[in-house]
Amino acid sequence: MFQVNRLGQTFFAEVIGLDLAQPLDDETFAQVKRAHLEHGVLAFRDQRLTPEQHIAFSARFGPLQVHPMGQFNLEGAPQILLVSNDKHADGRPVGIADAGRYWHTDMSYMKEPALGSLLYARAIPTEGGDTMFCDMTAACRDLAPQMRRKLMGTKVVHHFASRWARESARYGVRPAQTKEEQDRNPPVEHPMIRSHPETGEPAIYAGGFAVRVKDVSEEESKALLDWVEGWVTQPKYLYRHRWRLHDLVFWDNRRAMHHATEYPESQRRHMHRTTVKGNAPYLDPQYLARELSATP
Ligand code: SIN
Repeated sequence: MFQVNRLGQTFFAEVIGLDLAQPLDDETFAQVKRAHLEHGVLAFRDQRLTPEQHIAFSARFGPLQVHPMGQFNLEGAPQILLVSNDKHADGRPVGIADAGRYWHTDMSYMKEPALGSLLYARAIPTEGGDTMFCDMTAACRDLAPQMRRKLMGTKVVHHFASRWARESARYGVRPAQTKEEQDRNPPVEHPMIRSHPETGEPAIYAGGFAVRVKDVSEEESKALLDWVEGWVTQPKYLYRHRWRLHDLVFWDNRRAMHHATEYPESQRRHMHRTTVKGNAPYLDPQYLARELSATP
């Protein structure tokens, strides 16, 4: 038995009374999966997880992705990305200290982006360092029909190296990518509205790795990406998570975007993240046909 309490207006719930260090039986796992699909983001409170237990729980949802910037993955367990401002003895960063300080959905720069990410808080600051989430399914549902129709026909180019270079220049804490690292993830295209492969629900899909809307001018592309970000981040679609030590937060990247916030540099923030591989985004042709016939 465990408790699920909705915390956000349209999504996000906390889970109390589950110990994820123990393997879940099939029935409990099925309940967790249903709750995740229903609420989009789950914060499992008060977990004590070794990297192996974190990986084992994550892997029940699908194969894990290894972050392409290998020097920030946990030694001996590369499925874990370190989001951390700790430093090695020689001053090199242990993890990505400034990870995700912009709206994005994880690994959208891949052909098969992340289904979900599971971020585990091992050290948190006393102020700041929250993570904000927005519900792109609710935001999609509320679009005016004409705008939904426009976005349904839109393809977006996502690119890892462009965003990495921007963040590197912005905060000056992450190393520049080598040419080989840049070339490893060439630009990919995804639909601006994608169908959720498990619930069938459409969601807006864009975010910080989205560099260009296809087949429009640069000005139009920028205007549309800015408009979309403004739309999905209206307060009614947001939930701001104030971390508690030992929270494990599992978000559905097919439904939610997230944005990490700053915190005092003098304080430690050390998180472990796994990422579950998802499907190549698509828009269900039946949904598309229905929408087009219903929209004047
Ligand atoms: C991320 O984008 O995965 C990092 C989020 C966070 O550190 O809050």
